Amino acid sequence: MSKITAAITAVGGYVPEFVLSNGDLEKMVDTNDEWITTRTGVKERRILKGAGKGTSDLAVPAVLELCKKRGIDPSEIDMLICATTTPDYVFPATANIICDKIGAKNSFGFDISAACSGFLFSLVTGAKYIESGQYKKVVVVGADKMSAIVDYTDRTTCVLFGDGAGAVLLEPNTEGYGVLDSILKSDGSGVKYLHQKSGGSVSPPSHKTIDAKEHFVFQDGQPVFKAAVVNMAQVSAEIMERNKLKAEDIAWLVPHQANKRIIDATANRMGVDDSKVMLNIHKYGNTTSGTIPLCLWDWEKKLKKGDNLILAAFGGGFTWGSIWVKWAY
Ligand code: UT7
Repeated sequence: MSKITAAITAVGGYVPEFVLSNGDLEKMVDTNDEWITTRTGVKERRILKGAGKGTSDLAVPAVLELCKKRGIDPSEIDMLICATTTPDYVFPATANIICDKIGAKNSFGFDISAACSGFLFSLVTGAKYIESGQYKKVVVVGADKMSAIVDYTDRTTCVLFGDGAGAVLLEPNTEGYGVLDSILKSDGSGVKYLHQKSGGSVSPPSHKTIDAKEHFVFQDGQPVFKAAVVNMAQVSAEIMERNKLKAEDIAWLVPHQANKRIIDATANRMGVDDSKVMLNIHKYGNTTSGTIPLCLWDWEKKLKKGDNLILAAFGGGFTWGSIWVKWAY
């Protein structure tokens, strides 16, 4: 019997309508379009507006679009994994809520928390359930409402992030397409450089934590930048080497969109030309778990069956990784 691999057979995406531009941020904090553009590559980001709206409201349209494209009913989904750092609630899992909202009655679901590498960790996890033969339709959705944990008076973080979601459907393949190899890493000693100080069990919410603005993203940017440049490039080069992939064999680098300078360094190390790098950071900013599937969503029409894709990310935790995907359609 041929080996079963997990092929991506459909992509969906969603970004909210409201656009927050660099010009808008200039009016909110001491920043300017030139600084944001040259240091990060971001021009504008999308923000989910509306009381009572959460991450599941970003994920639901992305997953429904994917079902429509593939011509399946949500009740056919066996399992749904939601990668997120901004779950609807501390518990239960946002995946449960998404399944309920879309009518995925025969699916179970859970969330994976791995910050900006969440989509990669979730994709590999979902792929294993397909490879084992246990499930036939696994949805992996990366969704974050970063505006819920961003302090719009802190210029060092508020210019970076946006809201959005992207989703892929995984199905069994016996012709060698899909998720072919992965390297996933984590190093908890990086926690001090990028985290949310309060709201978890170490420091539960209190008047004190709210007054101290500890329920927002805290980032010491430079150490994160240095670790991202080194590690994202390292795993991307390593996955190419161990699979004997040369730069000319790579159709697309699909990088996490945290900073254009980190993406450039990764592409450079891999020897991959700029023209093969998916880049949409200027439109959406850093949507955390959403960046990589939103790239696939934006580029779907340009992708060809057999294209070799290298997905790569680095994020809080620290977490990082790289995945080799052979495109299936
Ligand atoms: O996705 C999760 C993983 N996260 C990342 O990968 C992010 C990694 N880090 C970065 O991308 C970069 O470190 C940042 C974009 C966050 C910051 O860029 P940087 O080149 O490292 O800037 P910096 O933090 O060294 O700050 C340089 C200067 C500082 O002023 P002084 O001290 O030199 O006077 C900052 O106060 O830029 C100032 N600055 C700003 N100026 C205008 C910081 N933020 C802003 C701002 N507008 N928004």
